[in-house]
Amino acid sequence: MSVVTIRPANEQDAADLADLAERTFRDTFATENNPADMALHCAEHFGVAIQRQEILAPNHVILLAEVDTQLAAFAQVRLHAPKAGIAAPQPAELQRLYVEKAWHGRGVAHKLMLQVLATAMQTGTETIWLGVWEHNPRAIAFYRKYGFQVVGEHVFQFGNDPQRDLVMAATLND
Ligand SMILES: CC(C)(COP(=O)(O)OP(=O)(O)OC[C@H]1O[C@@H](n2cnc3c(N)ncnc32)[C@H](O)[C@@H]1OP(=O)(O)O)[C@@H](O)C(=O)NCCC(=O)NCCS
Repeated sequence: MSVVTIRPANEQDAADLADLAERTFRDTFATENNPADMALHCAEHFGVAIQRQEILAPNHVILLAEVDTQLAAFAQVRLHAPKAGIAAPQPAELQRLYVEKAWHGRGVAHKLMLQVLATAMQTGTETIWLGVWEHNPRAIAFYRKYGFQVVGEHVFQFGNDPQRDLVMAATLND
């Protein structure tokens, strides 16, 4: 039986996180998108220096999920992330949650999400929100299981392609 461990990322994880973040992003979106937009997006958002900076940023919490010590998933939360249309003071944003394909539907995302919600709650925030591509039905179904509801939409600039993201939000309860 596999053991899933969730822990905060540290500076030494930057290279592994950069690799995982880019690989899972490409796995998720490459087939439905233009390779040039993908290349632009990845160059701008993934790389050891970029992920190191995000790990060290005081307003970010990055959680890693390891299955039997192998990195399998990560979640990235931005604290104090105001959003138009969300009235709660100091909401948190779930910026990224990506699981290696081999671990989809096997409880890793569930464990990670529980820790995301607990972490957000510990910061005193009442609401957590996220943007999800309108053409990502599995993620939308997943978020609904944790009480996220669609509250709006925004443009996600993917390379040169302005895409429609649904904005979903959940209220955190004690
Ligand atoms: C989104 C993600 C974190 C969810 O984790 P998961 O382990 O796959 O999630 P689960 O299997 O627990 O839940 C997904 C739900 O979607 C449903 N689902 C599965 N495939 C689906 C599909 N093609 N369309 C719609 N719903 C689908 C499942 O039935 C499941 O609901 P259920 O528990 O009621 O059966 C994971 O799939 C992932 O990392 N995907 C790639 C990265 C990504 O899209 N991240 C989110 C970016 S905003």
